[in-house]
Amino acid sequence: MTKPRLWITRRLSDATLARAAHDYDVVINHADTPGTAAELIAASAEFDAIIPCHSEHFSADVVAQFADRLRIVANHSVGVDHCDLSALKARGIVVTNTPDVLSDATAELAMLLMLGAARHAVAGDRIVRTGAWDSWSPAFMVGKQVTGARLGIIGMGRVGRAFAAKARGFDMDVHYYNRTALPDDQALGATYHDSVESLLAVSDFLSLHCPATPDTTNLMDADRFALLPKGAVIVNTARGALVDEDALIAALDSGHVAAAGLDCFQVEPGGNPAFAKYDNVFMLPHIGSATRKTRDAMGFRALDNLDAFFAGNTPQDTL
Ligand code: DGY
Repeated sequence: MTKPRLWITRRLSDATLARAAHDYDVVINHADTPGTAAELIAASAEFDAIIPCHSEHFSADVVAQFADRLRIVANHSVGVDHCDLSALKARGIVVTNTPDVLSDATAELAMLLMLGAARHAVAGDRIVRTGAWDSWSPAFMVGKQVTGARLGIIGMGRVGRAFAAKARGFDMDVHYYNRTALPDDQALGATYHDSVESLLAVSDFLSLHCPATPDTTNLMDADRFALLPKGAVIVNTARGALVDEDALIAALDSGHVAAAGLDCFQVEPGGNPAFAKYDNVFMLPHIGSATRKTRDAMGFRALDNLDAFFAGNTPQDTL
């Protein structure tokens, strides 16, 4: 039987590429450069399936230029804001993502960012590394304690719940906003807020875990930063689009927000150079899901979705 033709746009884990090569007629972009619009359009005529990452943009304009061969886009990501889902659906192209498997890795990174932002990780590392550490004082690098503090989570999906579980290990008082309240066996004692505004008022630490959609663009704007308790710490491992970065900078300048931990930016790759002068902003380059275990799991989940599709079934992660 002829194997389906598959294009893998980026360098996925070795185990993923080996499995793909066994089961598909696969072309891998070993150069690992983001797929351009022209490459996506060309691929739609040459391949039955694509496994892209969030670095490839399936805009309505690009999808409108697709040839008819492409049947499935099996994303190697949980976020799908890089895909115009209705445009793909209108072309009859199935779209899947990789939920569940990256929740713990992303929650771990959110914890790292929260702790690092709260405890001066950027400045502390720098002064030791550069040999500038020449004194000690009880007044030196005093941070904000996480243990026992109030934590607000916006978006209590899989990653939000994984983060809440880790925060409970720090005895944090977990509050959350979600479109609907969770059943008790998922909320595990976290306090539900039916509005973002109500949540912000109790969020000494705030972590964002909702998808980027037109409704959540600039979710954290100047008005909402002002609702946080003074000295709050904000963490974003979800998507850069959720935060109005100018408003965050203004809140840092006024001291209303004490620190931020950011893995996601409005512009990626690259981030926002305006944050560079802030020692109280601990930044990472969108690596929430970047552990070896999770990369294998994401790749295998994307392949599971493809296997189901080409076996004539509905993939479990069809959007
Ligand atoms: C995701 O899966 O959405 C992560 O942000 C990596 O792309």
